[in-house]
Amino acid sequence: MTEKTPCFWVPQDVIFFLGTEGLIAFNVFTRSHVEFDAVGLIDFLKTPKQIAEIESFIQNQSIGRGVRDVTWFSSEAGLLTDPSNLCRNPKTQWLSQASEIVQLLQNRWILISNEKGYRARFGVKQNIFDNQHFGNFHQQLGHQLRIVKRENPDHWWARQKYKDGKEELQDNLYKFIQYSFYQKHFKPENVCGKKILDVGCGTGFYSRHLARQGASVTGIDPNPEYIERAQSVAGNLGANFQVIDIAAGDSLKVLPSDAFDFIIFQDALMFYFVPYGNKKLNTRKTVLTELKRALKFGGILMVMEPHGIFWLQPWLGGMENPFTILTEYAFKTYGVTPTLSQLSEAFEEAGLKIKRIHEPPVSDQAKSFEPRGYAISRQFPQWWVFELVK
Ligand SMILES: C[S@@+](CC[C@H](N)C(=O)[O-])C[C@H]1O[C@@H](n2cnc3c(N)ncnc32)[C@H](O)[C@@H]1O
Repeated sequence: MTEKTPCFWVPQDVIFFLGTEGLIAFNVFTRSHVEFDAVGLIDFLKTPKQIAEIESFIQNQSIGRGVRDVTWFSSEAGLLTDPSNLCRNPKTQWLSQASEIVQLLQNRWILISNEKGYRARFGVKQNIFDNQHFGNFHQQLGHQLRIVKRENPDHWWARQKYKDGKEELQDNLYKFIQYSFYQKHFKPENVCGKKILDVGCGTGFYSRHLARQGASVTGIDPNPEYIERAQSVAGNLGANFQVIDIAAGDSLKVLPSDAFDFIIFQDALMFYFVPYGNKKLNTRKTVLTELKRALKFGGILMVMEPHGIFWLQPWLGGMENPFTILTEYAFKTYGVTPTLSQLSEAFEEAGLKIKRIHEPPVSDQAKSFEPRGYAISRQFPQWWVFELVK
């Protein structure tokens, strides 16, 4: 029996929009892009075709400069780099050879031949060498940093947030949204003389900010390198730091009860919904319940997290009217942030009440440093902040 020659088609997940030199084909789920200077070829691919037909079309028709790859894994440059994976100033060559074009279109999931096999690839990786699944954001980033770039993700995290000395923020959205929120909400009149716990404090940037406003701050983090760094630059500011493996067993039991006016838990609660690496974590209920115990009555536990809807969504469109394309919310295969109802359930389980929710705006200062990030985050908030009380 002779095998049927497979047909190839463009999956429904692909959209086209105008690029700088051609039409960009964007698979919105795999976040991969190919630029076409060959509009006739796009028209030809509207119906399923065999490889031989596609190759013969390319060889025999005028297809302009052909197609080129315009994909890069943009998050390797930082969490707040345009996450669309679209390379906006490509240096890649236009391909005009039929076999190369067909190969590129398959590699970038613009052409598929097996719907079931393609869909089955959307799922978590079983291990870092699993090439059969795309994996979620943590896994894709981990793969890119560890396997492709041979970089320690801890170093990557610090460099994308801080300038070389690790004491000054980069001129990116961390500074123009997160820090700007701190500057507005944690002024000396609100925090001077208050006791603050900074959970998952990293290298202590925000602990130091709070200490400079006159607060007495304790920063805790599981990473000894970060804590050493935090301690060494804090000088005689009112901040002290301790290595505590927040995620492990009853490690948080060492915290005093009813002791803190504010507890800050920033960019870390999401690990208790979608863990990164293989580490076994405390349940979120355990962590939040312990933090509630350590909070004074009348005190505030401030949970600041990447926005569960808009964070890591592609930054598309022009600067005046930016837009994004949402591909998931309730059932995430790429995203790693909890939904609003998952968060509120976790708070309720720990007996915490939501006092207020903020969606911090971007400061106008961002406009000149990060125009695309400014445009998108003016419309679509990148973090949400929950003020919780007990
Ligand atoms: C994204 S960084 C945020 C650091 C700091 N809060 C800030 O906003 O600059 C995440 C921090 O959480 C720490 N961390 C890692 N696992 C954690 C866990 N299970 N619970 C709490 N913090 C954790 C990391 O060491 C790191 O310092």
